[in-house]
Amino acid sequence: MLDPTLTKPWHFVSEWFKNHDPTPFDTAHGRPLWDYAGHEPRMNHFFNEAMASDSRLVTSVLVKDCKAIFEGLNSLVDVGGGTGTVAKAIAEAFPNLECTVLDLPHVVADLQGSCKNLTYVGGDMLEVIPSADAVLLKWILHDWSDEDSVKILKRCKEAIPSRGKVIIIDMKVENQKGDDHDQSIETQLFFDMLMMTLTPGRERTEKEWAKLFSDAGFSDYKIIPILGLRSLIEVYP
Ligand SMILES: C[S@@+](CC[C@H](N)C(=O)[O-])C[C@H]1O[C@@H](n2cnc3c(N)ncnc32)[C@H](O)[C@@H]1O
Repeated sequence: MLDPTLTKPWHFVSEWFKNHDPTPFDTAHGRPLWDYAGHEPRMNHFFNEAMASDSRLVTSVLVKDCKAIFEGLNSLVDVGGGTGTVAKAIAEAFPNLECTVLDLPHVVADLQGSCKNLTYVGGDMLEVIPSADAVLLKWILHDWSDEDSVKILKRCKEAIPSRGKVIIIDMKVENQKGDDHDQSIETQLFFDMLMMTLTPGRERTEKEWAKLFSDAGFSDYKIIPILGLRSLIEVYP
């Protein structure tokens, strides 16, 4: 997060307020984050490594404490799953679950599943998502505007059966005030600004999440706090 490629956009926020670029990242580097990563192998590598590092932490909780979430599933696609840290851990913990990682071609190029129930697919989540019983979106929708998030959720809905689900791991912004929460509020606001600076995304309250789900045609959801500020949200067709 402190690599100059990612800190530079913070110095372009005031210029960005006055232009029509989608993000300060675009103003600083002339192209969106994912496009930049696709052309700069160094950034592609360190960004994927940062995501994998976070994924190791979250996965340890997911596979140990949230086993029930995967019960009854025969297949799962981790959309924007990076280099596959989460999908690999799930595939190893549940050998009968067919796991697929969908990410941009420059991220999954040359990657091969290390176990027989793990495969990688290069593609665009805004276009088509491979069919599966469940779609996992970890740290994805906070990168996108409401409009694109609804589009991605609609693609997810097309990919799952009527009894399937979307599993989101992302932050639910809380509005509590008080000494115990001050640091957590600072962290939530920091992430919200980080998303604004690097991507067209944002962090969301429960009300804002609920609106995305209903706009995308889902009928219900359940939020389970899993790790610090991160929640697991199950969304049902
Ligand atoms: C914030 S990272 C999260 C990675 C991973 N889910 C995790 O939590 O470790 C967002 C991921 O979305 C991928 N991505 C961005 N745009 C995409 C698109 N249009 N289609 C598929 N993947 C995309 C990026 O390459 C990146 O791996």
